Amino acid sequence: MQNIAVIGTGYVGLVSGALLSDFGHTVVCVDIDSSKIEQLKQGRVPIYEPGLESVVASNLYYKRLSG
Ligand SMILES: NC(=O)c1ccc[n+]([C@@H]2O[C@H](COP(=O)([O-])OP(=O)(O)OC[C@H]3O[C@@H](n4cnc5c(N)ncnc54)[C@H](O)[C@@H]3O)[C@@H](O)[C@H]2O)c1
Repeated sequence: MQNIAVIGTGYVGLVSGALLSDFGHTVVCVDIDSSKIEQLKQGRVPIYEPGLESVVASNLYYKRLSG
């Protein structure tokens, strides 16, 4: 398993980061827009991607995903 940084937490970065963490990697997401990181920390997903919120929530819980 690897430590991965995702730069830009929009459609591509958030989905990629969340799924990489779900595979077991440790992922840190960063974004120039701090509100996106604050939302991520609270488990809020600002894009329409069915199922993503539960993936984000569980990986935040297990500390594989952070912002
Ligand atoms: N969405 C697609 O289907 C798709 C397809 C092919 C290519 N792309 C490319 O992938 C990239 C991301 O696309 P997206 O749809 O996720 O865009 P997006 O706008 O949803 O997300 C981009 C994120 O990057 C952040 N950002 C911008 N500059 C930054 C910086 N200097 N440091 C940190 N964060 C920064 C923005 O705040 C934003 O949250 C774009 O270059 C886009 O052209 C997207």
